[in-house]
Amino acid sequence: MTSADDCYRAAIGAGVDPGGTPWAELDPALLARRRTSTKWTRFPGALPMFVAEMDFSVAPEIRRALIERIEASDTGYLDGPGPLAPAFADFARERWGWAIPHDHVHLSTDVATGVVESLRALRPEGGRIAVPTPVYPGFFEMLVEVPFEVVEVPLADRADAPPCLDLAALERLFAEEPGIDALLLCNPHNPHGIVHEREHLAGLARLAAASEVLVVSDEIHAPLTHRGADFVPFAPIAAAAGALAVVTTSASKGWNLAGVKCAMIVAADERANELLRALPPETATRTSILGLHASIAAFREGRDWLDRAVAQSEANLQLLEALVAERLTGVRVARSRAGYLAWLDLRDAGLGERPQKRILADAAVALNDGRSFGLGGEGHARINLACAPDTIVEAIDRIARLQA
Ligand SMILES: Cc1ncc(COP(=O)(O)O)c(C=O)c1O
Repeated sequence: MTSADDCYRAAIGAGVDPGGTPWAELDPALLARRRTSTKWTRFPGALPMFVAEMDFSVAPEIRRALIERIEASDTGYLDGPGPLAPAFADFARERWGWAIPHDHVHLSTDVATGVVESLRALRPEGGRIAVPTPVYPGFFEMLVEVPFEVVEVPLADRADAPPCLDLAALERLFAEEPGIDALLLCNPHNPHGIVHEREHLAGLARLAAASEVLVVSDEIHAPLTHRGADFVPFAPIAAAAGALAVVTTSASKGWNLAGVKCAMIVAADERANELLRALPPETATRTSILGLHASIAAFREGRDWLDRAVAQSEANLQLLEALVAERLTGVRVARSRAGYLAWLDLRDAGLGERPQKRILADAAVALNDGRSFGLGGEGHARINLACAPDTIVEAIDRIARLQA
């Protein structure tokens, strides 16, 4: 493995973040004074490496689009995706070969709302929903809003490859009484950064079609797929298999736009699109016009920034892996292929039953507690790497002092 020093030099690169801001300006002590989001307010005094927000400066193209809309006092309501539909469809076709009819794109305030509203529209009676775990904790929070019983299905471990969907377990579950009505897929899968393989997605689509299980595929991390990995959108695969499916997605993770509130629900086929007509009109009205224009700028003009953010995430992950290998004991890092989050197995790290709690209390580093990710999350923690390389070095050094 490359040494931590070499990885550090590679991650520092030309000395600036994807938006051209010098790394020194991303010092957490400075950001804590400038920013007001959850990341900077929830754990005062701790190094905040939990919630999935980037420290990187916003893409200049997006900043320009937002300022233009403010200068035009264009701050009213929306009633549909308008120019966002072709902007996203062009991006999806060029990046992933996914052809989206523009009228299959519907607005929602954010991806969480997209998940909840699609379940309400396509499975109004509720039922049982399968959720592959460990997974993004927000899934459990969203599902409290709909009349579903959550059935956790742990990912299958593999010896020489990342964990994958447990198709055998899903097949058994779909066949049992009272069966399964929906499945919430995380594609790519947060927290491990798994880019699901085509054959696994095709297997899921076949099972879903056979048992009339609705699949809601959350693809918010897809724009952040690492170089050399092939992201496979679920919608075309579902359509080919005859499975009822929608995709919920946005520019909010890729370009760090969670606060401007704009996301999309995309129907996989005509049948799903017909059912999405039951979406309440308020789903679009509650979406922010600023978010819409920021998202159009992202998909149309923010691709170079995105590519730099992905390259930085990869370099930061390599730095983390090298630091963990050199300075920590008993810690394993999952090999992410998408996004800027890393999943740490701390069960053999000698940090007790609740390693995230110990690290927050005694090292002042705020990670996400693996227990909130559902079955399989115990003894794990998630770390956010969308920051200056020095922040990663500081976090690992603080944890190393706990093990000394
Ligand atoms: C998989 C996944 N889905 C949804 C969200 C939340 O998205 P939004 O803020 O658009 O609701 C996140 C945030 O990190 C996420 O990781």
